Amino acid sequence: MEEFAERQYEYIDKLREMIAQRSADLGRAMTACVVTFGCQMNARDSEKLTGILREAGFVMTEDENADFVIYNTCTIRDNANQKVYGRLGVLNGYKKKNPQMKIAMCGCMPQEEKVIAKLKESYPFVDLVFGTHNLYRFAELLYETYQRPKGMLVEIWQKEGEIVEELPVERKYSFKSGINIMFGCNNFCTYCIVPYVRGRERSRDPREILQEIERLVQDGVVEIMLLGQNVNSYGKNLEGGISFAELLREVEKVEGLKRIRFMTSHPKDLSDELIRVMKESKKICRHLHLPLQSGSNRILKAMNRGYTKERYLEVAEKLRREIPDIAITTDIIVGFPGETPEDVQETIDVIRKVQYDNAFTFIYSPRTGTPAASMEQVPEEQVHREFDLVLKCVQDTARAQVGRYEGQVMEALVEEVNDGGNAPEALKELSASEGEVLLTGRLSNNTIVHFPGRADQVGSLIMVRLKECHGFYYLGNQEE
Ligand code: SAH
Ligand code: SF4
Ligand code: F3S
Repeated sequence: MEEFAERQYEYIDKLREMIAQRSADLGRAMTACVVTFGCQMNARDSEKLTGILREAGFVMTEDENADFVIYNTCTIRDNANQKVYGRLGVLNGYKKKNPQMKIAMCGCMPQEEKVIAKLKESYPFVDLVFGTHNLYRFAELLYETYQRPKGMLVEIWQKEGEIVEELPVERKYSFKSGINIMFGCNNFCTYCIVPYVRGRERSRDPREILQEIERLVQDGVVEIMLLGQNVNSYGKNLEGGISFAELLREVEKVEGLKRIRFMTSHPKDLSDELIRVMKESKKICRHLHLPLQSGSNRILKAMNRGYTKERYLEVAEKLRREIPDIAITTDIIVGFPGETPEDVQETIDVIRKVQYDNAFTFIYSPRTGTPAASMEQVPEEQVHREFDLVLKCVQDTARAQVGRYEGQVMEALVEEVNDGGNAPEALKELSASEGEVLLTGRLSNNTIVHFPGRADQVGSLIMVRLKECHGFYYLGNQEE
């Protein structure tokens, strides 16, 4: 794949020259802003966009009133799209005042034809649009955009192309990183648009993954998250066959790496071998995100999820038995076509039995082109009623679960200094003593803990006593 990357490096050189020239003409640096919507996959892609923009000579900013703004979009639910359209309107206001400004959109939204039509019709001020399969061509597309006098440059590939990973990446955190181990999805859950916008499932070569991890560790990374829509089916399309559990065993051996996470596990492909590897591992974090979607067998079938309520419960019980300190989190959809109050009771039954540590509850959103969109929809009032029931149940179990470690000492990876700006009252009271700041750390089980410490401890693993549980996070103290 090297020739694909080489070509992009040539364009990065051209961009650098061009941006330097423009900055000189303007008498100031050119600024760029990357805005990310959606999942971890997009977050990782945004690090690639940022890497290229920085190499090209832009000064990165969080302010959307910049010379170049790119929205890396998500289309999983309609409200994700609406948010983007709303904000594009605001960008147009900035652009009218800054004729230099270029606006770009990429990610999952533009993979939908109707989105392209809408952009052309109502948002003609957007300069560049590309999709998920050609993200690696960003440098070239950006250069071309600047070569054009006016008009929207649109390049969307309907099919997945090469996997090109050797381009500049700028990590958001110096000490942790996501790594793509696979792309796309073959599951075609009937509500979901991901297989249509991210293409077929492709796994990366394990050697490349391991090399990337080794490089990251040399660069100071202690925690990695292996990313894929369904990591449990990793390796299925690779020659020589390697399972996800085997990949984890290899990753575990990387010296200097302290923590391993992964997202997302599909319940239908979760193997006993994976549970064993997790149990034996010293590095794999005590957290598993295992999306349930529904507890009703009838609805699970209509969703094409490939498991039953009983099978799911069996897996969850086994996990809790084998790895007692594991945190299990989930995703739930309320209002899937044909869902009755009885179906929702089945979902609630699973929530009570599994006792999730956290759960994301979503209202079903019809996505054009997916089978469920043309099924009979549930009346809105019913959906809202059921949603509130599920949410209440989830919050109750999560509070009890998260709080079960009160008083214990656990290891936290310090992620950032908490500036306290929008911190809850309880946090403000925890006034740090002189010379100290409030730090935010993450436990192996993914729970957040806030505690006093020094700013230079960000990125390190520290033993923390979990003094008080406040719903979904702890207040704590460093152990001497
Ligand atoms: N690959 C992951 C999920 C990625 S999408 C998996 O299979 O677990 C993240 C979550 O969004 C899903 O788990 C689902 O709960 C939710 N979701 C996906 N499509 C949706 C839709 N059309 N309406 C509402 N929620 C949806
Ligand atoms: Fe969507 Fe299902 Fe694939 Fe997850 S497994 S991305 S929910 S189709
Ligand atoms: Fe959204 Fe695309 Fe991820 S639709 S959830 S950003 S794969």
